Amino acid sequence: MISVVQLTKHFSIGRKTIVAVDHLDFRVVPGEVYGLLGPNGAGKTTTLWMILGVLRPTSGYAEIDNLRSTDHPDLVKSRIGVVSASAGVYPWLTPRETLRYCADLYDVPSADVAPQLQRISRLLGLTEFIDQRCSTLSTGQKQRVNLARALIHDPQIMLLDEPTRGLDVLGSKVIFDYVRHLRSVGKAIIVCTHRLDEAQRLCDRFGLLHRGRLTHEGTLGQLQQLTGCKSLTDMFLQVAQDDPHDRELTP
Ligand SMILES: Nc1ncnc2c1ncn2[C@@H]1O[C@H](COP(=O)(O)OP(=O)(O)O)[C@@H](O)[C@H]1O
Ligand SMILES: [Mg+2]
Repeated sequence: MISVVQLTKHFSIGRKTIVAVDHLDFRVVPGEVYGLLGPNGAGKTTTLWMILGVLRPTSGYAEIDNLRSTDHPDLVKSRIGVVSASAGVYPWLTPRETLRYCADLYDVPSADVAPQLQRISRLLGLTEFIDQRCSTLSTGQKQRVNLARALIHDPQIMLLDEPTRGLDVLGSKVIFDYVRHLRSVGKAIIVCTHRLDEAQRLCDRFGLLHRGRLTHEGTLGQLQQLTGCKSLTDMFLQVAQDDPHDRELTP
């Protein structure tokens, strides 16, 4: 389970302080897809990095199965798989070499590597290009290698940051099918995206993030009742109109 409690991050730039994430509270349970949604700059990536334990919160904390990300950084990382649109692939390695390398980084027992590799390759359809250098793969194929890489240590928690960025409809479908599969095998999943139409179809629950704050949270039905809007897009437009709040703190 993922728990985020009063999670807050300030960044200082010169004399200015930006409140990137502002007292967030939410939970994601096994078998649930949580859509952490918001426009560019809302604080989605910063939140994920704090859950993963690579960014230290200014205050508040994130926990994975009751382990605080700041106190148990290695244990927490070993339980999380991360898919990020900004992650590249090693151009000179093949997908098979990439996955073996990542298995090694995560200390996957050597007897498990071959069966795990075979299972993931089948799941994501890597077999036809598994021995081709990554530099020769299409964007969609590279993203499938990234998805595979996130699963090599069989984590129970998945964090997906803009997983469909740059992908066409078919490439995006592979990602959504992958997320649905992860849900069906009981993983707790956070998907961050500004593609609200996609999120609406995929996620079980939503947290709407605006300028670092969680403005609304719930299932689609709950949010529709709360806001009077039908679509997530309309909800966001409403939130943006209602909140002229400036999150720069000047000393
Ligand atoms: N390392 C950093 N230094 C300063 N400001 C940052 C840093 N990382 C993010 N920010 C700022 O924090 C805010 C939230 O960014 P981010 O979490 O990347 O948003 P999102 O992923 O929702 O697009 C933005 O205003 C961004 O400019
Ligand atoms: Mg981001």
